[in-house]
Amino acid sequence: MSSEHTWNPELYDNKLGFVAQYGKGVVELLQPKAGETILDLGCGTGDLSVEIAKSGAKVVGMDLSKEMIEQAREKYDGVEFIVGNAESFVHEITYDAVFSNAALHWMKNSAPVIQAVHRALKPGGRFVAELGGKGNVESVVSTITDVLTQDYGIDADQRNPWYFPSLGEYSSLLEQAGFRVIYAVHFDRPTKQADGEAGLSHWLHGFAGDDFFSDFSQADKEQVFEKISARLKDELYADGSWYVDYRRLRFVALKE
Ligand code: BEZ
Repeated sequence: MSSEHTWNPELYDNKLGFVAQYGKGVVELLQPKAGETILDLGCGTGDLSVEIAKSGAKVVGMDLSKEMIEQAREKYDGVEFIVGNAESFVHEITYDAVFSNAALHWMKNSAPVIQAVHRALKPGGRFVAELGGKGNVESVVSTITDVLTQDYGIDADQRNPWYFPSLGEYSSLLEQAGFRVIYAVHFDRPTKQADGEAGLSHWLHGFAGDDFFSDFSQADKEQVFEKISARLKDELYADGSWYVDYRRLRFVALKE
């Protein structure tokens, strides 16, 4: 995940649990089998690593955030969790599959990540992932950008930690690294947040606060998140819940 972002495992598990819930669909795409070795890249607090391990596969969960790995180790026995950098990792074993859910869009330097995944796989091994695709959370990003520019004179692009590639762009990167892309889709998935009115503010605290608003006090963050929420309400709030405008990219690519 992002090297700049400081993850808060409690907030992630308690308020942003939808990430792992939706990720179960990506585990279905992975189709893990007993006896396989599988790396979960950007595993966060490990919920999907454990979901994959239910198949009987041997799973290694890896994340750049030491806080997330500590929480994963506390929550789960029986799965190995390690701190590691997706851009440069080299492991002693090679894997049957590398899995990743909602993590690759934090890795703006995508070419070395894809090359490291390719190196880590056995010949014919699969890379199965979901990330935010082009247009993901676009209304949120453009509202953050407007508020930062207009009210604070801050260039939000400089602070944006996310990379949301198009299907063509990411497929090309995979092909350049030696993968054959056998499945790829780019689809809209408005994503319901918990906690009613406070849902978008929780999302902003968990995912955007540390990067776009790193130099804001806690009180200023609260105020600016309220302003952003008010501006987005007509577009993203319905029947008592926030639906963030997610647009997903999913793929299966084989190491040639
Ligand atoms: C996503 O899963 O699409 C996402 C998560 C956090 C920040 C931005 C996007």
